[in-house]
Amino acid sequence: LPISTLRRVNAYLEEYQTQKSRTNGRFSGLSFGRLSSNVDTDEVIFEQPKPPASNKAFVEKILRQRSLEMRDQQQAWQESLEGRRMLEFRSSLPAYKEKEAILSAISRNQIVVFLSNQTEEGETGCGKTTQLPQFILESEIESVRGAFCNIICTQPRRISAISVSERVASERGEKLGESVGYKVRLEGMKGRDTHLLFCTTGILLRRLLADRNLKGVTHIIVDEIHERGMNEDFLLIVLKDLLPHRPELKLILMSATPDAELFSSYFNGAAIMKIPGFTYPVRTHFLENILEMSGYRLTSDNQIDDYGQERIWKMNKQAPRKRKSPIASAVEDALRAADLKDFSLQTQESLSCWNPDCIGFNLIEYILCNICEHERPGAVLVFMTGWDDINALKEKLLIHPILGDSSRVLLLTCHSSMASSEQNLIFEEPEDGIRKIVLATNIAETSITISDCVFVLDCGKAKESSYDALNNTPCLLPTWISKVSAQQRRGRAGRVQPGECYHLYPRCLHDAFTEYQLPEILRTPLQSLCLQIKSLKLGSISEFLSRALQSPEMLAVQNAIEYLKIIGPFDKNENLTILGHYLTMLPMEPKLGKMLIFGAIFNCLDPILTVAAGLSVRDPFLSPLDKKDLAEAAKSQFSHDHSDHLAVVRAYEGWKDAEMDLIGHEYCWNNFLSAQSMKAIDALRIEFLSLLKDIGLVDSNTTSCNTWSYEVHLIRAAICYGLYPGICFVVHNEKSFSLKTMEDGQVLLHSNSVNARETKIPYPWLVFNEKIKVNSVFLRDSTAVSDSLVLLFGGSISKGDGDGHLKMLGGYLEFFMKPAVANMYQSIRQKLDDFIQNK
Ligand code: CDP
Ligand code: MG
Repeated sequence: LPISTLRRVNAYLEEYQTQKSRTNGRFSGLSFGRLSSNVDTDEVIFEQPKPPASNKAFVEKILRQRSLEMRDQQQAWQESLEGRRMLEFRSSLPAYKEKEAILSAISRNQIVVFLSNQTEEGETGCGKTTQLPQFILESEIESVRGAFCNIICTQPRRISAISVSERVASERGEKLGESVGYKVRLEGMKGRDTHLLFCTTGILLRRLLADRNLKGVTHIIVDEIHERGMNEDFLLIVLKDLLPHRPELKLILMSATPDAELFSSYFNGAAIMKIPGFTYPVRTHFLENILEMSGYRLTSDNQIDDYGQERIWKMNKQAPRKRKSPIASAVEDALRAADLKDFSLQTQESLSCWNPDCIGFNLIEYILCNICEHERPGAVLVFMTGWDDINALKEKLLIHPILGDSSRVLLLTCHSSMASSEQNLIFEEPEDGIRKIVLATNIAETSITISDCVFVLDCGKAKESSYDALNNTPCLLPTWISKVSAQQRRGRAGRVQPGECYHLYPRCLHDAFTEYQLPEILRTPLQSLCLQIKSLKLGSISEFLSRALQSPEMLAVQNAIEYLKIIGPFDKNENLTILGHYLTMLPMEPKLGKMLIFGAIFNCLDPILTVAAGLSVRDPFLSPLDKKDLAEAAKSQFSHDHSDHLAVVRAYEGWKDAEMDLIGHEYCWNNFLSAQSMKAIDALRIEFLSLLKDIGLVDSNTTSCNTWSYEVHLIRAAICYGLYPGICFVVHNEKSFSLKTMEDGQVLLHSNSVNARETKIPYPWLVFNEKIKVNSVFLRDSTAVSDSLVLLFGGSISKGDGDGHLKMLGGYLEFFMKPAVANMYQSIRQKLDDFIQNK
């Protein structure tokens, strides 16, 4: 607005404020800010209102009134029958016994680190997450400051934010959204009177974007810091800067492991308080013990001898079985693959060769069956690697005569992407005679406590589920857990009575586990983090990250910045471009974000949603060892485009049609496709679409996917735009072709790629998402693209300067083409860029 108009608006507002009579007192208790305009930058600035003294008193009066009401309400609940019963449960938790000491530590210090005092069996769900925030709220309410406090407690995952807030609200005899609420992306339950908010760490970071000083917030509680997620580490840097400016703001850190010194010294020697836990003893069995218990023994030549079997069969009055049981053979295979002779080899190599999938399902089924038939009552918690394993195991168990019988077994799953309505079942105790079995990811290690758990099965691996693409984490491979995680898993069995834990791997592998897991900031690409730092205007990326709890290597930071310059979100000076602004609003890998933006702009979003989702889940094309040829033949129906990415699109579309006719499963079976991956793609497509609607790139009212065109070239263009600089040049020989990238020279195609079976590629380039180095460099996936697509959508043309310049498109063209052709292409692209710039 012109400055003169702004002045008139301001004058008008001021008049309203002073002449209450004109507004019938409607605006009393409110005060207006001012709008002004910065002539230099054309920015309109909103100045916060300064409440006149009378208003301040008025607001305080209302808040005090409200605080009194809150106190009365709290007292009434605590005196009611239900309330007393709830208090009885709460006071049984170890944290409750320390209530006074906890509150006094918080009042005496600005920063306190709380941790559970670990026993050999691990930590116990001692009440940090549910009780600590509640203690603060209760004590504020008791001292009639209830309406003045504003407590925010962050959780690393959506599901824990929701489930904990529900639990705390019910412990306070309230509905969600009264004094206790939650907020996660695209969902929330928060009212005018909410003074304790559980949210994901991402939500608090986003709030910082709008309000750097966290105005009005009185307490920040960062939970599960031991997990060392990227967002939490990031938040701690921001808070460390903020706290000196907000001396009255309290920061409380909570960890389930004993490494509190690190956090304490990061905050210049913050106070540490241990909350003693309690666990019943847990009997631990490693694979060798499990084998022995079931009557097997490992012979010196790595064979499993079922020496006890005969005795067991005789005891049960059954004839001994001739054939070795599937478990014994599976364990034998796994031992052989890992070259693990006698359960005593302690090398890193055996860790990487040991494949729990070989034995996993059969062994788990066997142990579960044994527990159901012979063991005392108590829930069973099975730690699986990831979401897809959980689903696959569930399908297997559902058709089992005992485990699939719903009158005997209540089979539940627990992972970060499940609906909140599903969760409550996990906490409830089943009817007498029914055994509860929960298949869970590592989320049940600390974030979620299954209170009646007595038996734990631990497969030893963990993985960020494919849904974590949305939480800034690219799809990770399954990795071995740390010793601390194994201990946490074990501890879950000893909560209510002495328990049993079955580790489905030999003890020697456990001994080779690392002590702690490497923090996320040190093991994942930093591109998304760099984008976030820029969008929060936190200054130089390297300087900011050098102040982290454990700062990433500078090379990793430089790589990330260089990459962002090449693919477009950063300009030469590390400032956000327009593309960058949009990418900061899409919580996923920048390359996926770029593809989706392209799809939305060029109206070909539907297939691109599938491509982006396909890149975030496990390869949907299955290739069983004994049916490789059949599987390959099935895949070839989808692969006429010289593109692995388009093959996924075609397979998905076929599946979608089959689902309509209710034959989705059959379709997957016949075509060697993973039904789990198809379902995961389906779910991710919906998430991606809602994100694009959220930021206004797709009309929010439409139910369609913004698609006018299925033109294959356009889809190739989008894939090229997203995957560049993952690009290699195709060199044709007489009978076949070879591939070259600039960094690695000659590269090879992975045998599963559709292009690996071709003798000719009708385009000069392949773009790819992933390359892996074994002995040579292999491209896992690829899509063939033409010169013109690379020219138009292959990032910035400039040759750039410094080390990264070869990755710029100009460098590529020069490297692979005849000078005359390269020059011509460069000048075309330069003219185009100039044209766009001038328009
Ligand atoms: O954070 P910490 O692991 O110390 O424990 P917590 O999450 O506060 O859980 C304390 C206890 O509250 C658990 O052991 C459960 O018995 C109970 N709880 C529950 O019943 N339902 C929930 N959604 C969360 C906790
Ligand atoms: Mg907790």
